[in-house]
Amino acid sequence: MTRIIIDSNKKKSKISKHIYSHFSEHLGRCIYEGIYVGKSSEIENVNGMRKDVVKALKEMGIPSLRWPGGCFADEYHWKDGIGEKSKRKKMINNHWGGLVEDNSFGTHEFLELCKQLECEPYINGNMGSGTVQEMQEWVEYMTSSDISPMTELRRENGQEDPYKVKYFGIGNENWGCGGNMCASYYSQEYKKYATYVREYGGNKLFKIACGAGVGNTINGLNLDWTEEVMKNVSHLADGYSLHYYTVPSNSWECKGSATDFTLDEYYITLRKATWIDEIIKRHAAIMKKYDEEKRVKIIFDEWGTWYDVLEGSNPGFLFQQNTMRDALVASLSLDIFNKHSDIVHMANIAQIVNVLQSVILTEGDKIVLTPTYHVFKLYQEHQEATLLESFQTVDKVTYGIETNLATDDKSIFNPNAIDRNNTPLTAENLPLDELSHTASINELGEIFVTISNCCHDKPISTNMVILGGSFEVVAAEILTGDFNEYNDFDAKNNVCLKPFKQYKKTVIGEGLEVIQTVLHVTLPKCS
Ligand code: AHR
Repeated sequence: MTRIIIDSNKKKSKISKHIYSHFSEHLGRCIYEGIYVGKSSEIENVNGMRKDVVKALKEMGIPSLRWPGGCFADEYHWKDGIGEKSKRKKMINNHWGGLVEDNSFGTHEFLELCKQLECEPYINGNMGSGTVQEMQEWVEYMTSSDISPMTELRRENGQEDPYKVKYFGIGNENWGCGGNMCASYYSQEYKKYATYVREYGGNKLFKIACGAGVGNTINGLNLDWTEEVMKNVSHLADGYSLHYYTVPSNSWECKGSATDFTLDEYYITLRKATWIDEIIKRHAAIMKKYDEEKRVKIIFDEWGTWYDVLEGSNPGFLFQQNTMRDALVASLSLDIFNKHSDIVHMANIAQIVNVLQSVILTEGDKIVLTPTYHVFKLYQEHQEATLLESFQTVDKVTYGIETNLATDDKSIFNPNAIDRNNTPLTAENLPLDELSHTASINELGEIFVTISNCCHDKPISTNMVILGGSFEVVAAEILTGDFNEYNDFDAKNNVCLKPFKQYKKTVIGEGLEVIQTVLHVTLPKCS
């Protein structure tokens, strides 16, 4: 019998709500159509923002939203996106599909969106093609109430009071699309930009330095970047960004289908998703060398699955469907972030609507909530709760170890990725537990446990032991389906949260000093 042991008396780090954050880029149909339709649209909107999308996101719980990119950020000039809309400059979105960007969604619109969502803005500045002055003025424009040309300009554009903006990224992927810089050059530039990105009035900034990207390159873990950047700029940064995408295949050209995939691909995807744990551990170990106190936090501001685009869709739009496989990638990843909440302050799944692993897909006025949406909705109880000490004794997934996954495709992982013992990461030495879980406790003493069963066909019974008292079960919900099941515009509820009753409670030691609550839980396959 598998076991999950939770000690309700052993409190660990606080799980920052920002681990449940999202990312919106000017890419494909994420901003335009997905979120912003403009005031004159027939789609119901408030100040141009889709009502249905905003409502669904609020119900899911969205603590912060990153914008305007991604690669787009280092080509974005914020002054093009303010003032009278008809006079705003048009540009070509070079990175994503070569479409005309009319700049009708700019700073004011993004901050209006955050107001409607009641979430914190996270703005990514342009270091790649912008100037120090441009970045400095953007922050001044948004947050200053001093007498200054930028404050004046904001007022002319209809916003009297300064906005509150805390999270500010200084460049994005500057080792790649953000300027192809080397780490030492980026560090020097960072110092310069960070110096002039100032705090006005009571606005405290949380400055985020560009960190390594691992999954979407063949450059391995890029630990050297972390070493160099942390060595040089840790005293001037509050956050260090990391990116990792889960791509089932080994080839960037042919990543695999989002819906039409084999069991091998299912398990490869989950194994590769759990690599996030190693990524965090290895980068955190380097960060600690230069920041013993862990003051600089990891901002994992791009993660999620990346497949081939939906057939017939614009390849530059990165539109993909989302199945129970993605739900499991989300739950495993969120469990990992929760367990590293001593150093991970924020994580942003890419991207919020219509791009990569989205929580919402739209088509005209229609909207569909993906399995990933339901995971975020279910997990919101972990936000700002305290992680509890817990461990599990469960079997490893054996699928693929003896079959062609192990024999034909040993190099499913990044060939340059080497583990602590200097062995390449492969299916055999990156084991996948059948279950994954997080346990947290809130200020009222309520415990919240999430458990995932990765097995595609096997229900798993487990004894969940909660040490430290007798507990009642207040509510339980489940998300389950076939590993390739998904929601679509004409079948919206194939996969959705349902009440869960497959558990039985026993209390051991009632009336004695040491009490344990044991829940015998049976989790359906792929749940
Ligand atoms: O999310 C898509 C792209 O992936 C982002 O623009 C970039 O930062 C990353 O390479």
